[in-house]
Amino acid sequence: MSGLTPSDAHAQAAELRDRITELADAYYARNELLVADADYDELMRRLEEIEREFPEVQSQDSPTQFVGGSADSTLFDPVVHRERLYSLDNVFTVEELTQWMAKTERDADQAVQWLCEVKIDGLALSMRYENGLLVQAATRGDGVTGEDVTENVRLIPSIPQRLTGEGHPDVVEIRGEVFFRTAEFADLNTRQAFLGEKTFANPRNAASGSLRQKAESKNERQLELMQDRLKRLSLYVHGIGAWAHPPVANQSEIYELLSSWGMPTSPYWSVVLDAAGAVAYVERNGEHRHDLEHEIDGVVVKVDSLELHDRLGATSRAPRWAIAYKYPPEQVNTVLLDIVVGVGRTGRATPYAVMKPVTVAGSVVRQATLHNKAVVVQKGVLLGDTIVLRKAGDVIPEILGPVVELRDGTQREWVMPTGCPECGATLAPAKEGDIDFRCPNTEHCPAQVRGRVEHIGSRGALDIEGLGEVTAAALTQPIVPATPPLTSEAGLFDLTIDDLFPIEVTVKDSETGLAKLDEKTGQPVTQTPFRATVKKELVPSQDALKLIKGLADAKSKDLWRFLVALNIRHVGPVAARALASHFGSLTAIDAATVDELSAVDGVGAIIALSLVEWLEVDWHRDIVTRWRAAGVPFAIPGHPGPGAALETIDGPLAGMTVVVTGTMPGFTRDGAEEAVRQAGGKVSSSVSKKTDIVFVGEGAGSKQTKAEELGIRIVQAADFAGTLGL
Ligand code: IVH
Repeated sequence: MSGLTPSDAHAQAAELRDRITELADAYYARNELLVADADYDELMRRLEEIEREFPEVQSQDSPTQFVGGSADSTLFDPVVHRERLYSLDNVFTVEELTQWMAKTERDADQAVQWLCEVKIDGLALSMRYENGLLVQAATRGDGVTGEDVTENVRLIPSIPQRLTGEGHPDVVEIRGEVFFRTAEFADLNTRQAFLGEKTFANPRNAASGSLRQKAESKNERQLELMQDRLKRLSLYVHGIGAWAHPPVANQSEIYELLSSWGMPTSPYWSVVLDAAGAVAYVERNGEHRHDLEHEIDGVVVKVDSLELHDRLGATSRAPRWAIAYKYPPEQVNTVLLDIVVGVGRTGRATPYAVMKPVTVAGSVVRQATLHNKAVVVQKGVLLGDTIVLRKAGDVIPEILGPVVELRDGTQREWVMPTGCPECGATLAPAKEGDIDFRCPNTEHCPAQVRGRVEHIGSRGALDIEGLGEVTAAALTQPIVPATPPLTSEAGLFDLTIDDLFPIEVTVKDSETGLAKLDEKTGQPVTQTPFRATVKKELVPSQDALKLIKGLADAKSKDLWRFLVALNIRHVGPVAARALASHFGSLTAIDAATVDELSAVDGVGAIIALSLVEWLEVDWHRDIVTRWRAAGVPFAIPGHPGPGAALETIDGPLAGMTVVVTGTMPGFTRDGAEEAVRQAGGKVSSSVSKKTDIVFVGEGAGSKQTKAEELGIRIVQAADFAGTLGL
């Protein structure tokens, strides 16, 4: 129940009707996508809900009574479909799907055999064949009247001009979905970009834009491009209209028949006998959504029996014998509010988009990287643009492009700043030909120092509790004191409570990530993370104590962690471990030549050169000197010296190369890998023929599959500790 009063219901329904009609008109008549599909579906759903609860508010012109959109197209001639093209009702959860299946079986008064198909994210097309010849092709329009796109459709290679095989009726309307295969779409966009033409935000927009082009308005070159785009389109059929007595009993048999006539049918369908089968189909395709050759936005579950189609019938909008299960959207529209430049620990200046917060693929997104100036230009986005944002699964959010049709003249071009936003130094490519711009103030740029300090505390380096992103910012860019406690990481191990105590920082808004402003004064809201009031007395906060203790404890950590913490380009944990165990001390590393360094297994020339260059810089050496003075040994106690690597550990995994994938109960990822090393094993991140054992736990994925393919020994997570002799 909505909890609405009848008069509220009336008002809300009217508002929803207007909005949906406006959106549908824009989409169907002008090919403009004003909101994401999921938002449109949500509006429709709310309207349906209200109309169900208050049938009296339903009006004749409600969009719930139509398929959506009008056929009021000025571009193409109207075509009245011989039989109405229905849309589909949607469900969004497995519960709703199973409820719908149960209700349909009750209405049919029998157990039903189901046909599950993927829902292609394209656009519907109805093709009329008379005596086996293609005579007309039309878009869906409002379901009753569509647009005549016959001439364009004739150029789509997979659509036969003449049906093959036998048994086709004199007149038949075959329905299907026109789409771009993902690879074809990528190719098309590359070509469009190469030719200086606009790129498409997604395959569906590209398909719709390509099919609904008018040849008359084009010059020779444009005509060639238009034909090229049409030739790249694909089609799969998903139904048949205007055929009173088909010679088969089931929809699945219709597909076999259509296929025998030369019509392209999808390989992705499956007949199941119950809800469990349909749910498994939904889940399987959800997981492998991106492995298909084209994009899908859901699954269509249909009653297979054609006789039951007739008996169950249709509402004015959709058949009662089919339903669309919609996956959560991976693409949404939002507004590009700003492009700001962030400077990271390596000084690279990265433009990133600040967007109106929007939920996509289950999380709220407000920022997305735009990588570099060239990418901003290539995407063609303007400040203030409505943009299409994509986030597939747990993949990083990506801006696909602007919705050009929604520009109203207020959008402005973005200009890459010439100075570092944090220290003002002139940004420039590090060397000629580099795409990236960098801040040259490596030693003191607060953004770079902040990034390096954060890196020092990170898990792969010194793993210091209490030294994360927020603390690193507080130490390097506080509001008070005017001179930050750290102007370079050299002083990190000299920090005392007295240095931390006065620190004041701005509070960031959790919604926007921007500094929070006091409503009355308009000044930034600040806080003091390192002092607290106990019994009216100011004392160091728990965070302050934690940080000082974390820094003190860190000094006795392994040498390799310090090598990582020095922020030397290319020196990550693997190289650092190899260097540490071969040389035993930073002094020995410092004394080694490039050749000696690169000869170490796991090091190589690039890393060796990077190390030597790093050690030549005065302020880098100063970091080492000051850390050493603060008590960092930079040496493995008892190491016998260069070349005499510490004996390999003689444990149950001695000499074995091991991959850990998924969760090992009772271990963190790092902990599990360390345990493997302690047991004498060598940890590798990828499975190959050289792998001896793959430990698989919850969440294991492709590595397990690969191990199975290669016939490598697989050990379950439950036996992890046992195998390691723990
Ligand atoms: S059957 C009478 N099957 O989705 C039922 N439709 O959102 C007609 N679509 O209008 C549709 N893949 O354009 C069906 N495997 C599939 C489909 C599919 C995509 C489209 C179709 C329909 C729309 C509804």
